[in-house]
Formats: sequence, C-alpha cells, structure tokens
Amino acid sequence: MTENRSGSGKGGGGRRKGSAIAAIDTGARRGLRTRVKSAKGRKISSTRWLDRQLNDPYVQEARRLGYRSRAAFKLIEINNQFDLLRPGMRVVDLGAAPGGWTQVAVNMVGSERGQGQVVGLDIAEWEGVSGATCLQADFLDPDAPAMIKHALQGPVDAVISDMSPPTTGHRGTDHIRIIDLVEHAIYFAEEVLAPDGIFIAKVFKGGTENDLLAHVKKLFRVAKHAKPPSSRAESPEMYLIATGFRGQNNAAEDIANAELPPEKLWTPDDQD
Ligand SMILES: C[S@@+](CC[C@H](N)C(=O)[O-])C[C@H]1O[C@@H](n2cnc3c(N)ncnc32)[C@H](O)[C@@H]1O
Repeated sequence: MTENRSGSGKGGGGRRKGSAIAAIDTGARRGLRTRVKSAKGRKISSTRWLDRQLNDPYVQEARRLGYRSRAAFKLIEINNQFDLLRPGMRVVDLGAAPGGWTQVAVNMVGSERGQGQVVGLDIAEWEGVSGATCLQADFLDPDAPAMIKHALQGPVDAVISDMSPPTTGHRGTDHIRIIDLVEHAIYFAEEVLAPDGIFIAKVFKGGTENDLLAHVKKLFRVAKHAKPPSSRAESPEMYLIATGFRGQNNAAEDIANAELPPEKLWTPDDQD
C-alpha cells in the first residue's frame, strides 16, 4: 500500500447549483459530431468506445475544467440534487482513481484551504490530488480499512464510493461483484461515520440492489437510489444515497485505535 500527497489539484467544479451539464455547450451538443471510422486492427468495440468518448460532452467538459474523469460530474450532480458535501466535512473516497471525485470532494469541503479532510483510496496506481491524502490499496485487503482510519484525523462525515470491479460484460457477475464491494464499504462506513453521516455508493442493477437498500435503510434515516443525468442511460449503474447515519458506533475510538502492521505504516515524509 502506498500513500501520495502530491499531484495536481486541478478541477474547478466546486459547488454549483443546478445541473452540471447546463453549462456544457460543446460541438457534440450542437450536432458537430466527430465521425470515427473503423481502422485496420482496431476492434469494433474500440471504435465505438472512441466514437463515444470523442462525442461525449461530459468528456469534453471534464477536459476543459481539468477534471480527471467524466465521473466527476456524477458527484457534482448528486450533490446538486441532494446537497450533501459541504465545507469543513471529512470525506473518504473509495475507488478514487483517476481522481475526479476526489477533486470534486476537495473543492466542496475546502481541504486545500485548510477546511475538512479528504482521503481517497484505489487499488490502481494514481496520481495524488492536492488537498487529499491519496492511498493505493485493494479495499478488500483486510488491512485497507485500518490504513484509511490511520490517515483520518477524526470521525468521517461522508463515505463515498464509486468503486466498480473490472466488468466482465456478464451482468449477473458484475452485479454480484459490485454488491460485495458495497457491502464491505457499508461495514467500513459503520465503523468510521459520525452520527448523521452520509454514504454514497455506486451499484449495478441486477437483482439484489433493493435488498441492500432495505439493509441501508436500517442504518440511515433516509436511503434511496438515484441516477444522475451524466450516468449513461444504457448502463446498469446507479447510486445508493443514504443520509442521517443512526450512529451506533464508536467511530472516534475506532479511528484513534487503528493499528497497522509495521510494514504498512507510513509517514508523509516517506512519500516525498
Ligand atoms: C469508475 S472508477 C472511479 C472513478 C473515480 N470516481 C473518478 O471520479 O475518477 C472505479 C474505480 O474503482 C477501483 N476499484 C475497484 N475495485 C477496487 C478495490 N477492491 N479497492 C480499491 N479500488 C477499487 C478501480 O480501480 C477504479 O479506479
């Protein structure tokens, strides 16, 4: 596991009321479509992907605003709709790479201005986002939750997860895998969230998402599914949004007592 505090903090989104897409006025929206021809040696699926990327207004706007992913707009839109992340909050971002949500969270809580705290974690190698503590680890590794707790300076106001396992194309398998990840994220949230805390997680439709929602409703005062406009209509993806954590935990104690095996301990100096 590694930690990285350096890197660029670009991404100018911050808190903007209304739809994130409202400001987007790209060629693709105005009908200036870039045509991608099939090329020798390129698979049809790759040509389709390229075509979609080149003509996706969110991709273009993310590039223009310095966000590392179009996914940044999903968090902005969720926040516009539900008013969740605010200045001064402490946020854990699971499945954070390449860093779009982390950039948005840093802007929303103000951690670059000394307010709040953002800790992001991903299994993949990723470039640190300035204003956040960025960790590389498999969240399913038994030591990962302790590592995050170790980086935290107190109980958390929001656990946000955009984690998705590598997709197989088989909807049933992908559904089971993401639900497993979200269940682990919920156990973790139960350990670190302050009373009234927030939980956001990506799920894929596929059969058991409503059972999971029913479980989350027991832990939080309000829980629902939402699909932000930037989430592609053809994707089974949606988000579980829960607010008002009922708070039957000892988060502060848990965080203070987080123990890591010595080889997984880091200090900020290690990372420079
Ligand atoms: C859709 S991407 C996240 C995009 C990110 N929210 C953004 O805005 O840039 C999903 C991420 O989940 C990560 N992931 C999947 N399984 C994971 C695991 N077990 N532990 C940590 N990260 C995981 C993947 O590596 C991938 O980077």
